[in-house]
Amino acid sequence: MRITVYLTGGVACYKAVELVRGLEKVGHEIRIVMTKNAEKFVGPSTLASLTKYPVLDDLWTKENQASVPHVHLARWTELALIVPATADFVAKIANGIADDAATTTLLATKAPKLIVPAMNDQMWNNPATQRNLSTIEGDGVKVMEPAVGMLAEGYAAKGRMPEPEEILTWTNEQIKQTKRLNGKKIIVTAGGTLEAIDPVRFIGNRSSGKMGIAVAEAAANSGAQVTLIYANITVPLPKKPLIKPVHVESTEDMLQVVEKYFTACDALIMVAAVADWRVKKAADHKIKKQADQNTLKLSLVKTPDILKTVAKNKKSGQLVMGFAAETDELLQNAEKKLREKNADYIVANNVNQNVFGNDQNQVTILSRKTAPKKLKRMSKSAVADHLIDIIAKNLLNK
Ligand code: CTP
Repeated sequence: MRITVYLTGGVACYKAVELVRGLEKVGHEIRIVMTKNAEKFVGPSTLASLTKYPVLDDLWTKENQASVPHVHLARWTELALIVPATADFVAKIANGIADDAATTTLLATKAPKLIVPAMNDQMWNNPATQRNLSTIEGDGVKVMEPAVGMLAEGYAAKGRMPEPEEILTWTNEQIKQTKRLNGKKIIVTAGGTLEAIDPVRFIGNRSSGKMGIAVAEAAANSGAQVTLIYANITVPLPKKPLIKPVHVESTEDMLQVVEKYFTACDALIMVAAVADWRVKKAADHKIKKQADQNTLKLSLVKTPDILKTVAKNKKSGQLVMGFAAETDELLQNAEKKLREKNADYIVANNVNQNVFGNDQNQVTILSRKTAPKKLKRMSKSAVADHLIDIIAKNLLNK
């Protein structure tokens, strides 16, 4: 795997040298980015001679002036490993700061990111550091817990960087996770379906598509081939080779596309907010209002239930996960949907809680086999990671 190792300014930098050797020994191709403070602890020439490649530590050298080395390296990278990560570096990435070669390259990379913090225990326990760590975890960065042991300050506490051997094992474990759904096909629906009233107007809903897109990204980050069937969304589509986006408009369109891909899929995750009603006959021309008209009657008919229709025919080994958007009686209603729609899982969320368009969500996961599990409020991408973890464990155990 093509790994870029980022060294930031802490005494644990000397252990990173050993780690780079270990990563190379197991066959990874390594490039190095260093902050100026990291170079106060180990020289870039040590790392350059180990990797046989120049270290990126300055975007403004003569050689780098005419190129964009950070973007090239960001594109080359399949995994970014920040080791050791100082409290300052964690704070910068939590806030998207790009003020040197390391932060700029990291901000430009789309590769999965692993981080191994090492710092004094008081800095680790500082609420600001903990806040920054939960922010980056919410953004999908995987954090290795520091060890408890002798710190450079001469006393034992939490904050010490784990030994290179442990970091190597953890990194390889994380790499395995990024491939655990290799070869699996997952359908994710996102956004809200629209039902035409006339060529100009429609019946829609408040779904932004954020949750569905987060689920599609989490599945692709685990190596799955994802078909993202999306209706109306207000956020950008993800650009990942493993995600194939397919646009639909109405519930009927979405049903047709879901049915087309369902036969060959391993799992379907219906995150889309699907319109339950459509106008019986949408007008071909814009409906004009008359001078004496005060009301407009629309006759609505029920749309098909996509989840129920496809889950009825699921084969053994295929998994179906639905969502339940509720304003009242969350668990009872979600339980009913689990049974009536023949789903394996229902992810229930209370949509009174400012869910639409928000970056955070609080969900309870209901399954046929276990008691409902309430997750704490977290970012939509962290919720998505939980859901993909459930799907992966199930698919791999079958
Ligand atoms: N769903 C579907 N087709 C529909 C309606 C909903 O596939 N016509 C799916 C949604 O994508 C979601 C689950 O069913 O995964 C529950 O959707 P929700 O809107 O919460 O419930 P409804 O089934 O529409 O029931 P109600 O509106 O009465 O709560």
